[in-house]
Amino acid sequence: MARLSIAFLICFVALCCGSLTVQGLDSPLFGGELGQERPLLRAIMLSRLVKELGGTKDIPAPLSRGLMAENVAPPVLRVLLNRFASKLQQEQPDENQLLRSIVLFRLVSEQIGKKIIEEFKNQVQSRRVYTFHHTFSWNTALEYIDENGELSGFTLGLIDAVCEEANRTCVSQYDVSKTCYTSQGEQPRAGEGILGRQFDVCVNWVKSNERERALAFTKPHWKDDLTSKFFVKSGNPGGFDPKDMSASTVGFVDGWMCDEHCILSGSDLAAPSATKYYNDVSDLVKGLEDGEVDAFFLYAYLADTSLYEAVGDAVVCNEGTVHMMTRKDSDVLEWWNDSLDRVIASGKYYGLCNKARSAYGSKGDIKCITN
Ligand SMILES: *[C@@H]1O[C@H](CO)[C@@H](O)[C@H](O)[C@H]1NC(C)=O
Ligand SMILES: *[C@@H]1O[C@H](CO)[C@@H](O)[C@H](O)[C@H]1NC(C)=O
Repeated sequence: MARLSIAFLICFVALCCGSLTVQGLDSPLFGGELGQERPLLRAIMLSRLVKELGGTKDIPAPLSRGLMAENVAPPVLRVLLNRFASKLQQEQPDENQLLRSIVLFRLVSEQIGKKIIEEFKNQVQSRRVYTFHHTFSWNTALEYIDENGELSGFTLGLIDAVCEEANRTCVSQYDVSKTCYTSQGEQPRAGEGILGRQFDVCVNWVKSNERERALAFTKPHWKDDLTSKFFVKSGNPGGFDPKDMSASTVGFVDGWMCDEHCILSGSDLAAPSATKYYNDVSDLVKGLEDGEVDAFFLYAYLADTSLYEAVGDAVVCNEGTVHMMTRKDSDVLEWWNDSLDRVIASGKYYGLCNKARSAYGSKGDIKCITN
């Protein structure tokens, strides 16, 4: 058997996983996934390797500093590695054992590399704070502002449960919905807030093909009846006619599916003479009260039918499941679905639905998903 030294082994592995070269680090050992954390991973990798080989010595500080630094010359590293290797060799002279370890290491190295990356990612992600963007818009059991001005509803408990399950730190913040998605009567598009990374997640958004082109959706956590109607003041004092809006001003919530495109698509209706887009439902309703619009178009169940009268046919702009919406590159996508699945499978989700029935039932139906 060829004489093998630990020095050879370490240099070999170091070369194959790129420890000795500053460039060319896309070794198969890490599945090509080494990002900015390369030097740190390199050092972790070596210490794993030492343990794997049964060594008990810690890596000396100069060596680990050398491995972490991007600009240490390979010959210097090699000297440091050799010095360390000869120390290891004194500790573990059995070559057969060493050979077995090498073979084993070759077999498991890829998995070890991937596992380290996973652990590292998890560590980084568990230290990160994820911001969840709520709008004031829904005003249902899903989410609403309570009499103290605090955000309340089913969603908050759900976010807590899913984040806890995933060991993530999540915080809620409020903003208008157009920072998530907007149209202002033009082509609908993703909002500046979500694209500009002011927050990680837009909470409670309905999925549509058009939105999916710009943003990504998690699994649904709520379903909804998104039948929409035109609403006018009681008795329709302005004589608003949905079949002829050519002289009317109609209001919508900005960025929602129940917009101008919805009422005009697939119909030969003339467009309203003017449209106004509001930040949320209460502004929309106020717009009608203040006479800024002749009618508003809204998910029917969100309108107070004791105050406002529905006119015209019901329109379904989109089938309604409610999701978290995020950027396509967001790492939220890596954990939310699985974590939500576990919250559902463990029965926690249905616990939250039950609790919501008593706590927020006065704000409307609890529409938990059943599959
Ligand atoms: C969350 O942390 C606990 C304890 O640290 C751990 O047992 C569990 O596996 C972690 N869960 C996830 C999804 O990382
Ligand atoms: C999460 O689930 C949704 C809905 O099932 C799916 O469209 C999406 O691709 C999933 N995301 C990931 C990262 O698995």
